[in-house]
Amino acid sequence: MAKVMMVASEAAPFAKTGGLADVLGALPAALVRQGLRVSVVMPKYRGIHPAGIEKVMDDMPVFINNFRHRTDIWRLVRDGVSYYFVEAPWFYDRDGVYSSYGNDYMDNHLRFAVLSLAALGIARLLDRPDVLHAHDWQAALALIYAKSWYWNDPRMANVKRVFTIHNLGYQGRFGKQVLGELGMDGLQFHPEYLEFYGDVNLMKGAIVAADAVTTVSPTYAREIQTPEHGFGLDGLLRSRAGQLTGILNGVDYAEWNPATDKHLPAHYDASDLEGKAACKRALLEALGFGAEAHGRPLIGVVSRFAAQKGFDLLEPIGDELAKEDVTLIALGSGEPHCEWIFHDLAERHHDKVRVWHGYNNGLAHLIEAGADIFLMPSRYEPCGLNQIYSLKYGTPPVVRATGGLDDTIEESTGFKFGEYSPAALLGAIRHALQCWRDREAWLERMRLGMAKDFSWDRSAAEYAGLYRRLLGI
Ligand code: ADP
Ligand code: GLC
Repeated sequence: MAKVMMVASEAAPFAKTGGLADVLGALPAALVRQGLRVSVVMPKYRGIHPAGIEKVMDDMPVFINNFRHRTDIWRLVRDGVSYYFVEAPWFYDRDGVYSSYGNDYMDNHLRFAVLSLAALGIARLLDRPDVLHAHDWQAALALIYAKSWYWNDPRMANVKRVFTIHNLGYQGRFGKQVLGELGMDGLQFHPEYLEFYGDVNLMKGAIVAADAVTTVSPTYAREIQTPEHGFGLDGLLRSRAGQLTGILNGVDYAEWNPATDKHLPAHYDASDLEGKAACKRALLEALGFGAEAHGRPLIGVVSRFAAQKGFDLLEPIGDELAKEDVTLIALGSGEPHCEWIFHDLAERHHDKVRVWHGYNNGLAHLIEAGADIFLMPSRYEPCGLNQIYSLKYGTPPVVRATGGLDDTIEESTGFKFGEYSPAALLGAIRHALQCWRDREAWLERMRLGMAKDFSWDRSAAEYAGLYRRLLGI
């Protein structure tokens, strides 16, 4: 039975800032259902101490530049998956995962170097895998160290290396001085490996070090090979096209299903939609709307507020949109400019627009259920999960036709626009609002979306196939 070790900086339900955590919370168990043995290595951030967790190793040897970083290893078996937690309080016992008050921690390169080396320690001393599968730049060093430091270690030499790009917009790029801090010498610092315009680029290093590279949708796999979406790595990705595949994410219907969702005041499914109206009422009340909002179509947003997500398109059309018979509820936090766009809109159109700043999982579920239309106008989107959740919740999404949004939404289940412009977005929203008024056709659209199946098993089978090909089994 092939053994896979995943390395990542977040996994639901233990730590989550975005979709990466959803993937690491569900894909491993789906791989177990495919007959693989799977472990996940992640940091033991502040507050992580689930029932059943046990310490499996004191003081795992993690050396960088001959300095021994103290790391204790904990383990929890969940859904047949071994989750290993790396305890290093100096690095992980902080109030944020990557940042505090909007500022990235200055030592993130070291924090995730320690994660990567601890994972390699676990791989060599506790639980040897056949495949080492690293996710995003935070885990990139696991592959880089495996290739550069452990290439002749008999316990690691035959381990295949897989790297998944969840978002090419975050590459782990640091000044050249971190090279020494990471224990690297000049040998790895050249344009064919870690160097990127004079800086160190960890994602680039992992793409080079990997035997196979994946990303989270087929369309994004094509897009990142173009200058428009390649963030400077498109040339490298084109040169690795033979090893690059797009495997669409799945979603976890145990967590995201309106028939069973524990965050909702009422439940529903395609055969009985009554509970959805109760969710809409609860959502409107939670945001302080009066009775006048109940008959209007309700647009929902749940998002990290980052430039990637395309909300700058809303800024010039906000007033036009507010003239429509519509309500807009947004949940999110992130970049100040994006927060301001919603804040400003809500202030000027308080009767129609409300925003909840912050992270709120319960409200995210209630918006998926209570909204009539979901909005995701991303500039680029590697996969995107919220639009897939919204299908299941009978909340047809308005999306820009890019990356995973294009792969998961059809004209029959949602509304797509192509050009990245405020006018195109406004046109798509108006079209959705118009369609909403035709009740029968709208119900049909909802039911088509609710019938779609994006469960993890199909994606897991593709990953299992990839591992098998790499291992020649
Ligand atoms: P990304 O990973 O780029 O942020 P995805 O659509 O893949 O985008 O995943 C986002 C995940 O994070 C979803 O599970 C979504 O519900 C959740 N999420 C995003 N912002 C918030 C928020 N402010 N509060 C609660 N959950 C959020
Ligand atoms: C990233 C992407 C998002 C994707 C998620 C999980 O955060 O921005 O599109 O769904 O990773 O793969």
